[in-house]
Amino acid sequence: MSLDQTRSRALEERFDAVYASAHSNFKRSIAAGGHKLFIEKAEAGRVWDVDGHEFVDWVGALGPLILGHRHPEIVESLKSFLDTQGTTLGSGIYHTEEDIQVAEMISRFIPCADKVKTCTSGSEAIQLAIRLSRAHTKRPRFIRFQSHYHGWIDNVVIGQHDKQATGRPFPTTEGEERNFYSAEGNSPTAGEESFILPWNDIEALEKTLQDYGDEVSMIICEAFGAQNMCRSPLPGFLERVRELCTEYGVVLCFDEIVTGFRIGLGGAQEYYGVTPDMAVVGKAIAAGLPFAAVVGKAEIMELLADRRVLGPGTFNGYPLGMRAALATLSILSRDDGAAYRHRNGIQARLSDGLHEVARNHSQDLAIQESPGSMSLHLGLKEGTVFRQEADLVGFDRKRFFQLQPRFYDEGIMIMPDKLYVSVAHTQEDADQTVQAFDRVLKGL
Ligand SMILES: Cc1ncc(COP(=O)(O)O)c(C=O)c1O
Repeated sequence: MSLDQTRSRALEERFDAVYASAHSNFKRSIAAGGHKLFIEKAEAGRVWDVDGHEFVDWVGALGPLILGHRHPEIVESLKSFLDTQGTTLGSGIYHTEEDIQVAEMISRFIPCADKVKTCTSGSEAIQLAIRLSRAHTKRPRFIRFQSHYHGWIDNVVIGQHDKQATGRPFPTTEGEERNFYSAEGNSPTAGEESFILPWNDIEALEKTLQDYGDEVSMIICEAFGAQNMCRSPLPGFLERVRELCTEYGVVLCFDEIVTGFRIGLGGAQEYYGVTPDMAVVGKAIAAGLPFAAVVGKAEIMELLADRRVLGPGTFNGYPLGMRAALATLSILSRDDGAAYRHRNGIQARLSDGLHEVARNHSQDLAIQESPGSMSLHLGLKEGTVFRQEADLVGFDRKRFFQLQPRFYDEGIMIMPDKLYVSVAHTQEDADQTVQAFDRVLKGL
């Protein structure tokens, strides 16, 4: 690596002596420079490490930083809460008027959100959605899709689609080395909680529902797979899933932990015009505070009201998260979504610039994107939309994963497989990244 890493390396040694792993220990490490990054300062779309390097930051804390780092209104609103009410108040015992304001906004913006229940992480919200759907339908299992990520709890992370399955399409752990999420220690019975199907395969879904529909409580999916190399739904797929859910009495839940308040105020459901029965949101909702929510139709959500479904949690309704959510949603909805319009302009500039550089290098590049997320698929013809494996003919996986370390050398931080664009990014951030891409491609 060309960048000096003296202090980072020294800190990494101390870190590794006391921590069991990096804070998130997915196998595809985001240690872009070959070491852990230690950050000293962050502002808007940039971070500075302890060795004095400045990076344009397209990581956005893995999704929450829709407003960029240290947005002044978020900082001020948190400070004023700390000054008057402190850190937390006591979920279930004390409430604030802001709790109401936040839920009113969520209900106004998200099409399926009659009612809201907050918690602190996406993984938690998904487990509650599963529980609600089971209680609502009195059925034991849910359907999920290959490569869609729904948090780290056993029942949503275990196994992969079983191409050999003849009966119920339970996840298989055979050939697990091919599965990014495979790991030891999962509950031996977790696999029986769900069926896993290939994404965008409506026939497989229809057949599963015909055969086992009376066992299925919920279908959960990332309508736009930001966690899934920005994979899109086939035209008509989500609409048909919606119809099937209605026909079979299955709860449709969109995992909008990434897409919620990132694509726009109404998330993927508004973007695609398909309204699920439930959704989970997190990450961007509170611009960096741990905060998430399950939202959905009143008849399902009200199972929580009389405690038929349990939904406790010391930090549910976490006041600092609530305060940050109030500020975030106010900023994003202001001036008829001016912040999103700015962000979309920056994303278009970046996308156009990267395409142009690739063309100048006679390299195929298809940028997979929805508002706020993008993935650079080298080797795919410009304009190719990634919806299913068959679309990946020519995709250069090796060079794709070389992009992150090469960009790092150029002072640009991306995730291994994607970039998140915030409303705080600037033309300069986009232009610097485009110029860096020119040098990156020369070196690849
Ligand atoms: C689509 C999706 N769902 C769920 C989760 C889990 O959220 P958390 O990490 O807050 O538990 C994530 C996290 O990356 C995600 O991207």
